[in-house]
Amino acid sequence: MENKKEVLVTGDRPTGRLHIGHYVGSLRSRIKLQDDPRYDQYIFIADCQALTDNARNPKKIRQNLIEVALDYLAVGIDPNKNTIFVQSQIPELTELTFYYMNLVTLGRLQRNPTIKTEIKEKNFDGGIPTGFMTYPISQAADITAFNAKYVPCGEDQEPLLEQAREIVRSFNSIYGDVLVEPNGIFAAEGVCRRLPGIDGAEKMGKSLDNAIYLADEADVIKKKIMNMFTDPKHLRIEDPGHLEGNVPFIYLAAFAKPEHFAAFLPQYKNLDEMTAHYTRGGLGDGTVKKFLNEVLQSELGPIRERRKQYEQNIDYVYDMLEQGSIKARAVAAETLKRVRRAMGLEYFEDTSLRNEYKSKYAKK
Ligand code: TRP
Repeated sequence: MENKKEVLVTGDRPTGRLHIGHYVGSLRSRIKLQDDPRYDQYIFIADCQALTDNARNPKKIRQNLIEVALDYLAVGIDPNKNTIFVQSQIPELTELTFYYMNLVTLGRLQRNPTIKTEIKEKNFDGGIPTGFMTYPISQAADITAFNAKYVPCGEDQEPLLEQAREIVRSFNSIYGDVLVEPNGIFAAEGVCRRLPGIDGAEKMGKSLDNAIYLADEADVIKKKIMNMFTDPKHLRIEDPGHLEGNVPFIYLAAFAKPEHFAAFLPQYKNLDEMTAHYTRGGLGDGTVKKFLNEVLQSELGPIRERRKQYEQNIDYVYDMLEQGSIKARAVAAETLKRVRRAMGLEYFEDTSLRNEYKSKYAKK
């Protein structure tokens, strides 16, 4: 049956629990997109990709699988509206990767800006694993196996999407029109696309110990907010405050809605008014942080409570992943079949080569 909906694919590496950076950068848009009748959304846990730089730490990946699945359910990703699956359970992806590898040069992988940044961050002391170096090709398989037209993701993924498009174009021009070219869907302009850590570091993450996790308890969230980096020059309340790198304001831009002002800080109608007061002078960081705490508690409280309910129903989480993986595998197998056929590898189903040889060697 022809699927008329456009396919979206996204994945997350299971290297830790998900944090509010994931929420703002990608989870929130997935929740919106799951209710859009134009789309058919696939969401997966990229355990194989996580192993490309964690080969010697498989336990970490294995243990975070269910944590990530719980985070998905907690934020409201609905298994009835999406196909949620585990990458390693789809062996067809590996075979696709192997064929795509022939279409990508080593030099091209070495020039990938995302790969370059990650190599710097990770300092592989025993050398760069080949699997890591080639994960952009595997990611192209993740995307194309499901005929994805769109990939909702952070901007750091754009070079990987570009790599996927190059593979699609090469493949289609050599073997015929089989694969779909993917495009990114990025978080709306204006809102911060990537939240900094609570310390102001560019990236939020476990290794930097500067993240607010979706599963954090209320008191932990509050403590993290009270320790946030703000404006070191804003010593007295009357001093003008600066917004550059001011973490509470960056988070408020991502989370605060007029309803929050009405409920928790009614002297301002919206963030613009509050920001104007801060930069003019007369608004203290304590008040800003207290307000941010109210906002985040009201956003994250329901997520944490929902997570607790699913934590009591691990069988449900497993069933969801298993059923989703079965469904995803069937789709990937269909794509792989078309790929093999296009490449001329379907020797035993396709009789044309057999017949060609029969007539080539037929006795005259
Ligand atoms: N590279 C992504 C990340 O680090 C995870 C990922 C793997 C992915 N395969 C994907 C994202 C396919 C989108 C589409 O978060």
